[in-house]
Amino acid sequence: MNIKLKCVDCEKEYEALKVRYTCTCGGTLDVIHDIESLKKMDLKALFDARWGSREKPYNSGVWRYKELIYPVENEFIISKPEGNTNLYDAGKAGKFAGLKNFLLKHEGENPTCSFKDRGMTCGITAARKMGAKIVACASTGNTSASMAAYAAVSGMVGVIFIPEGKIAFGKLTQALAYGGKTLQIKGDFDDAMALVQEVCDKLNIYLLNSINPFRIEGQKAIVFEILQQLDWEAPDWFILPGGNLGNNTALSKGLMELCELGIITKIPRIAVIQASGANPLYKMWVNKTPYERVRNAETIATAIKIGNPVSWRKSYRGVEWSNGIVEEVTDQEIMDAKAWVDGAGIGAEPASCATVAGAKKLVEKGVMDPESKVVGILTGHLLKDPDATVNYHKSALGDREIISNFANAPIQIEPTLDAVKEHISSLLS
Ligand code: F0G
Repeated sequence: MNIKLKCVDCEKEYEALKVRYTCTCGGTLDVIHDIESLKKMDLKALFDARWGSREKPYNSGVWRYKELIYPVENEFIISKPEGNTNLYDAGKAGKFAGLKNFLLKHEGENPTCSFKDRGMTCGITAARKMGAKIVACASTGNTSASMAAYAAVSGMVGVIFIPEGKIAFGKLTQALAYGGKTLQIKGDFDDAMALVQEVCDKLNIYLLNSINPFRIEGQKAIVFEILQQLDWEAPDWFILPGGNLGNNTALSKGLMELCELGIITKIPRIAVIQASGANPLYKMWVNKTPYERVRNAETIATAIKIGNPVSWRKSYRGVEWSNGIVEEVTDQEIMDAKAWVDGAGIGAEPASCATVAGAKKLVEKGVMDPESKVVGILTGHLLKDPDATVNYHKSALGDREIISNFANAPIQIEPTLDAVKEHISSLLS
């Protein structure tokens, strides 16, 4: 296979066929592709020829780009198939953000309803290629839902570490239903992440968090697919939420490779949006200080409730490379933006809506031009976290000091025509 692993810190190289997630120096690893050989192929034509294909594995919106993802033999690939998600006009959510040309890539339309499936198909395929029987991850919910499903398809056992009582109901439902061995940890995601790394090292279990470099490779397909949907014309901005910081790492790595290959010539700017209660990358960025974890991270957007993200270095590298920016948003801003994303008929879970809250803030600050072409990534489905949504509309988030500015509460009425008329008369006029 024409790929190798390289340390982001000391640049030490490793072969890609042996299990390894970090360098001996502790640094995270990149998968390095043989760009010179790839330059000899007309990849754009190849990817365009596979568009809409019914042939496995190229019917997947990840494996369509196999040469730039993981050039593995097709018989190892485990795909559901993922990707091929819609790129929507943001509609009312665009007006709310103050952007005229705002598109939303809905990664909640993946098989397990989050963007994690793109990295997971690649990670579980690497697990099979390396002969793994048991896979594991720590998760705020979506990674565990995805891993449980892919483990079930592959016949491997999936062991899940989740912070006790802190993951959204839709995600826990999926992990249990798909048969994941689910271990609830007393502590938060950061504790679970530290434990799963130790467990995988000591017990010879294959780790499927985004510290696994193959997860990042699969995740790159989001940006490849968006650009293909835009006829390979790069937008001015990409904007997305940041938690463990794998997704924006993948986005920038994918863009770097497309630039090196000459498939795109313009570098779009990347805006990473963190919740203000879980914002280590933001603090580093604005204060120009060394990385420091945030203790006791807290946000209603439980998916990004992470104080010690594993991919912070690769993430920072990508933001700097793209002349990008890191911004933070409050839970109030997230939930208000969510009301507009949902009300636009698109819908997404809270963490995803940090994207739209962040866009609004960057427009208001004059960083993002209202005329610029912006692609936002919605990372998870509306139904992943029904509690947050219903409680917002019922004005029941007072304990978090969140005001339901755009509530659409259910109304209790008597079962009579008059009662109905009273409540919908304004709609009839
Ligand atoms: N949005 C959603 C819906 C997520 O589930 C996550 C991460 C993110 C955004 C942040 O992406 O970590 O790549 O920066 N969820 C992980 C999980 C951590 O365990 O499901 P990131």
